[in-house]
Amino acid sequence: MSELDTVAVLGTGTMGAGIATAVARSGRQVLLVDTAPDRALAGRRSVADTLATGVRRGNLTAAERDETLDRVRPVSSLPEIADAAVVIEAVPEDLEVKAEVLKRVEQVCSSEVVLHTNTSTLSVTAIAGRLHRPDRLIGTHYCNPADRMRLVEVAPARQSDPAVVQQTVEFVRHLGKDPVVLKDTPGLLTNYLLVPFENDCVRALEAGWATAEEIDLAVTAGAGFPMGVFRLLDLVGLDVHRAVSMSLYDQFHDQRFAPPPLVARMVAAGELGRKSGTGFYRYED
Ligand SMILES: NC(=O)c1ccc[n+]([C@@H]2O[C@H](COP(=O)([O-])OP(=O)(O)OC[C@H]3O[C@@H](n4cnc5c(N)ncnc54)[C@H](O)[C@@H]3O)[C@@H](O)[C@H]2O)c1
Repeated sequence: MSELDTVAVLGTGTMGAGIATAVARSGRQVLLVDTAPDRALAGRRSVADTLATGVRRGNLTAAERDETLDRVRPVSSLPEIADAAVVIEAVPEDLEVKAEVLKRVEQVCSSEVVLHTNTSTLSVTAIAGRLHRPDRLIGTHYCNPADRMRLVEVAPARQSDPAVVQQTVEFVRHLGKDPVVLKDTPGLLTNYLLVPFENDCVRALEAGWATAEEIDLAVTAGAGFPMGVFRLLDLVGLDVHRAVSMSLYDQFHDQRFAPPPLVARMVAAGELGRKSGTGFYRYED
């Protein structure tokens, strides 16, 4: 793929907006698609907010912010992404939803388009199996916040064309990120290792061992993590964490992955974390 090629991002929530920011920062044109035009617009606003924060922190200039944002265009219908060379899917963690949206992409894009799925836990091979061109799909799992975290787990489906794998590794490097090619396994490495730990922290909170602040202090000041687990879960979104935990539990039948009841209750109450203003912490902005 050339640097002039356009990238489309499907689903402009937490991850889609972060990935779009990273891709636009690398110099490529980005098209944003969501379920409705106002959601794609909201995705662009998230990109703008992230870039504004970057300027405040001295990571980019105001001119770079404006140039980057100019490369990000929300579109209102799928046929508008017909010329994209790469389509990155960041829609909810549900096999049916992901397969359905990717099948629609196949209908509008060229047969040479490369499809990336940002699934956290689903089988890339199973998603590929639902497509007309399974060899064009690959998993690219970004870490949150996607504009800043360097690791991208690259998970080829069993059907992925080796040329697609190579091209994807180069694509990720061009973003300034570090690709690690892994087998298509549930949760890859990051979620396989992290989700049981996150659930243990929630169980400790549920059991009343300590407050969220105290557990986060233990995790950061004691274990040296850059961010507390409850801060991270609020960033990830409790709904997303629940879906990810359930999917891993369904595949491994291992209790460590089962989301603790508190997570389901918080989701039912709309306490999703940063995106809803309340999670384990409260957020004013
Ligand atoms: N949140 C995280 O920390 C994180 C990290 C890595 C990977 N992931 C994975 O990324 C994916 C997205 O997660 P998220 O946290 O960004 O979710 P999110 O809920 O913040 O965003 C999902 C977006 O997809 C949109 N959407 C739903 N159906 C769609 C469709 N058919 N077409 C286009 N858009 C559609 C929604 O309107 C929403 O804007 C999931 O598979 C998740 O497991 C999440």
